[in-house]
Amino acid sequence: AGCATTGAAADQAEPAAQPESQAHAPAESATLEPEPLVQRAYALLDSGKTVDGLLLLGKAVEEHPENSTLRYHYAFALAKYGKDYRGASQQLETLLEHDPLHEDAYFLLAELAELHKDYPAALEYYQKVADINSEYPDVYYRLGLIAFHHLDKKKKKAAKYFKKALKRDPENADAHYRLAILLNEHLGKYWKAVKHFQQVIELDPKHPFAHYDLAVLYHRLGDRSAAWKHYQQAVEVNPELKTPQNDKAFHYELAEEPLDEVMPRLQGQEAEAPDFQQDRQRLEARMADLSPEEEATAPSPEPASPTPPPAVGSEPQKGSAPETAETEKVDKGLVLITGATAGIGRATAEIFARNGYRLLLTGRRKERLDALQARFREEFDLPVHLLHFDVRDPEAVKAAFENLPEEWREVDILINNAGLARGLAPIHEGDLEHWNTMIDTNIKGLLYVTRAVAPGMVRRRKGHIINVASTAGKEVYPQGNVYCATKHAVDALTRAMRLDLYQHNIRVSQVAPGHVEETEFALVRFDGDTERAKIYEDFQPLTARDVAEVIYFIATRPPHVNIQDVLMMGTQQASSIFIDRSGRTKR
Ligand SMILES: NC(=O)c1ccc[n+]([C@@H]2O[C@H](COP(=O)([O-])OP(=O)(O)OC[C@H]3O[C@@H](n4cnc5c(N)ncnc54)[C@H](OP(=O)(O)O)[C@@H]3O)[C@@H](O)[C@H]2O)c1
Repeated sequence: AGCATTGAAADQAEPAAQPESQAHAPAESATLEPEPLVQRAYALLDSGKTVDGLLLLGKAVEEHPENSTLRYHYAFALAKYGKDYRGASQQLETLLEHDPLHEDAYFLLAELAELHKDYPAALEYYQKVADINSEYPDVYYRLGLIAFHHLDKKKKKAAKYFKKALKRDPENADAHYRLAILLNEHLGKYWKAVKHFQQVIELDPKHPFAHYDLAVLYHRLGDRSAAWKHYQQAVEVNPELKTPQNDKAFHYELAEEPLDEVMPRLQGQEAEAPDFQQDRQRLEARMADLSPEEEATAPSPEPASPTPPPAVGSEPQKGSAPETAETEKVDKGLVLITGATAGIGRATAEIFARNGYRLLLTGRRKERLDALQARFREEFDLPVHLLHFDVRDPEAVKAAFENLPEEWREVDILINNAGLARGLAPIHEGDLEHWNTMIDTNIKGLLYVTRAVAPGMVRRRKGHIINVASTAGKEVYPQGNVYCATKHAVDALTRAMRLDLYQHNIRVSQVAPGHVEETEFALVRFDGDTERAKIYEDFQPLTARDVAEVIYFIATRPPHVNIQDVLMMGTQQASSIFIDRSGRTKR
């Protein structure tokens, strides 16, 4: 219905003294039931007969002082049509004395407090509404807006309010937008901010700032291609955002172009950054633009029916989202570890499990995988999925990944660990079967798994591959010929993969350990000969856990950091052949 007050009434602090048609008000208030009386009063108010409408309601309140509905409407009409905010507040306070759970009264008081810029009071009144009825339309959104705009120390609280608002109304694009800003600029939760900016764009594809915010955020997170894409979309929606400096800073080409054309341009860009200083000013300006004050202080909606009355500025209630527990488990990501049945792979699985990652574990020994799955479920309440295949068999690898259930397909971190050494012999005495096993497992197996998993990472523009190489991939040692060659191949592949994948926002890393105990490595190398496998008795090598900790560290750096290569040995080992074997007890 809009705000249809007369010009005179709109300028007055108190209702006008003279009714437009004195005849009706007292007579009607005596004869009409409260509901039709309220309807009649709004009809008068909307047709410009402000004083008549207010008089009718005022008389009715005098005659039925205990009737909360009448008094609430009188207060509402005083505020909206009579601009008599003090009078409205007094009526609401009287109402709350005998009806202390009247949520609409508190909501209106909150809006009046906002009007007088008394934000702590407004916050308290809205909170009261939420305490009485947590499903009251928009109440958490309003709380979020006040905490966001007016209370500097309540940014965390503002984020909580917006989250609650979004649980009730997931389609509130503005709540998504403001929450994204808080997550990005105050709470350091960048990927969560990305998610909410994306929601804004989904709900409001022409949002004037969300694309630009995403562009800046992706730029900071190191995803230059996504930043460029969103910058272009931002400029399409809002050409004002286009500046030569931003053009230059965001510009990014996909690598389909010949590399010699791309490289000089990328190198030239390194020193550039988007105009973040200007962004900050823009941000402040646009926050002022988007300030809800106008909207909140212009009482407007027409009550659809006298009971229950809608509050000033409230919108029709949309379907509420189901409430989920605040303590809901955060999905830290899916980690695929090959060769998780023993040694370094098992120790790595243990650390990721302890830290709440979902695990996809592989190996040939099914009973060991089953036991790990049962323990991690029991101990950490963790979802674990098992894949049981020989990495040397390309068909088995392909089938295993093709048949994965939907929820296990999006691997965030791939740890290519499965590997082995077989034998130790000079080249002229080498065992062909040993050679084939090492080449097929350490090189081809790593390639088959990577080939199955990497396309999904490229599609999603997200992922991290960590290869377990060896010091044997950095230097050769006598009789280690083919094993060293396979690990040199892993070293080369790590570097080559990085060149292919970095532009898809995928990190590729490697850890290259020296001797590692708590593994079956030596036993496998010497065909199960336990005596020959006793190679660590006279010095302290690394433990499987030492290596697992480094892998975990590499995997948990912020998204802009890629640790490319870690070469690690026990303190008593200086190289593949220089080992202090004077005994492990002396340290
Ligand atoms: N231990 C060391 O001194 C040392 C030093 C440097 C680097 N490394 C490297 O570290 C990685 C892990 O070795 P580790 O020391 O932990 O040895 P480990 O205890 O023997 O573990 C090797 C893992 O690889 C899996 N694996 C081996 N061949 C496989 C195949 N064909 N298909 C599927 N899985 C297979 C094994 O599982 P299943 O047998 O159940 O299939 C096992 O889980 C290897 O790449 C190794 O080269 C080890």
